[in-house]
Amino acid sequence: MTYQDLSKAELEALHASLSERLDAVKAEKLSLDLTRGKPGADQLDLSNELDGILNGFYLLQDGTDVRNYGGILGIPEAREFGAELLQVQTDEVMVGGNSSLTLMYLYLNMMMEQWQTEDHPPRFLCPVPGYDRHFAICEEFDIEMTPVPMTASGPDMDTVERLVGEDPYIKGIWCVPKYSNPTGCTYSNDTVKRMAQLPEIAGENFVIMWDNAYIAHHLTETPEPLHSIMDCCRAAQTTDSLVILASTSKITFAGAGISFLATAPEQLSLFERYLGIAMIGFDKVNQLRHVRFLKDQTGLAEHMEKHRQILAPKFNRVLSILESELGNAGIATWTQPEGGYFVSLDTMPGIAGDVIRMASDAGVKLTPAGATFPHGQDPDDRNIRIAPTFPPVEQLDKAMSVLVLCIQLCSADHLIKA
Ligand SMILES: Cc1ncc(COP(=O)(O)O)c(C=O)c1O
Repeated sequence: MTYQDLSKAELEALHASLSERLDAVKAEKLSLDLTRGKPGADQLDLSNELDGILNGFYLLQDGTDVRNYGGILGIPEAREFGAELLQVQTDEVMVGGNSSLTLMYLYLNMMMEQWQTEDHPPRFLCPVPGYDRHFAICEEFDIEMTPVPMTASGPDMDTVERLVGEDPYIKGIWCVPKYSNPTGCTYSNDTVKRMAQLPEIAGENFVIMWDNAYIAHHLTETPEPLHSIMDCCRAAQTTDSLVILASTSKITFAGAGISFLATAPEQLSLFERYLGIAMIGFDKVNQLRHVRFLKDQTGLAEHMEKHRQILAPKFNRVLSILESELGNAGIATWTQPEGGYFVSLDTMPGIAGDVIRMASDAGVKLTPAGATFPHGQDPDDRNIRIAPTFPPVEQLDKAMSVLVLCIQLCSADHLIKA
C-alpha cells in the first residue's frame, strides 16, 4: 500500500511512530557522512604499491629524466596509456596533474578569451541532475547555465539540438557520458553520435566537455560499452570541439593521481601554450609511477575489478535498504547504477531540502539539496545524491536507515498537510 492510499488518521499515526523512531536515533548522537564521492581507505590501499615502485629508476626509454623540468603534455608512456583509455590517438592526449577538474577549469579559462570577444556572454547546456563542480566553474566564469533534462540514454538530445541550433551563444555542454554523476546513466550510441554532430549546428568555438570521470568504474561483471566520441567526431569533422577528460582519482589515489585531456592536436597545442605561462610541466615522476603500476588496459581492468569487489556490496546495501523501506511506499524513486559513484534519489516534489535538514539534525550529513542543479536550485526540490563509497558498510547501513526514516517522515508530513 502506498502512502497516498492511507487516510489522514492513518498518516498521522504513522507520523507519530516515525517521529518516535527519529527521537531515538537523535539520542544516539550519530556523526555520519554520505556526501562526497570519495574512495574509501580500503580502496586507496589497493594502490599502495605506487609508493616506491620506481625504486630509483627515473629515466624514460628516450633518456628523459622524469625528476627534471619540462614536458607539459606528459611523458610518452603515460600519453600512450591515456590514448588507449580514451580511445584517441597519442598526439591527441596530454597527461596532467592529480585533477581533471583543474584541466577543465583551465581549458574553459582559455576558451573564455575567445568567447569574451563576442557581444553576449557565453551559455552552457547543463544536463540535470549533474555534477555540482561543473556548475561552479560556469558560475566562476559568469557562463549562463541552461538546464537540460537527463533521460535514461543521456541528455534529452531533441532539446539539446533545438537549443544549440537556435542560440549561437551556447558555447558548450557538460557531459558525464559513462555512469553519469549522479544518475549513473551511460549515454546510448545514438546520443554519442548526435553529440558529436552538435558543433555542426552550433555557433563558433563550441566545446563538448566530455568528462569521462567514471570510464573504468564498473559495478557489474558485464559493463555497458560506451561508443567512442572521438571516432564519431572524426566522422563528423568536429574533433576540435571535443574535450575528453578523465583521471585516476578513483582508480589509484584521489589526492595523488594523474589526469588526461584529449582533443584535436591543434587545440592541444593551443592549450600547451596557454599552460606554459603558468607552469613548466606536471609531475612526471607520478606519471611514470602510474604507468609502471597500472601497465596497460588489462592491468587497469584487473585493478578496477578489485575496486568493484569493494564497492558492489556497498551499492547493493544501499539499493536493498531503499527497496525494503521505500519500495512499495510510492514516495521516492531512485537509480540502479551499473557503475560510478552515486545513487540518485527523487523524493516527492518539495521535500528534499526538509529531508536533508532532518537527516543532518539526526547526525547524517547528505549533499545539500539542489547541489545537482545550476546555482544549487532544484526547481522541484526533490533530488538527493547518495554517495555510498566512503563509509564502511556498518556506517552506511546506519546512515541509510536514517535517510529512509527522514524520507518517510517528511513524506507523511507533506501528505498530512496537503
Ligand atoms: C563527474 C566528475 N568529474 C570530475 C571529478 C573530479 O575529478 P578529479 O579528481 O580528476 O579532479 C569528479 C569527482 O567527483 C566527478 O564526479
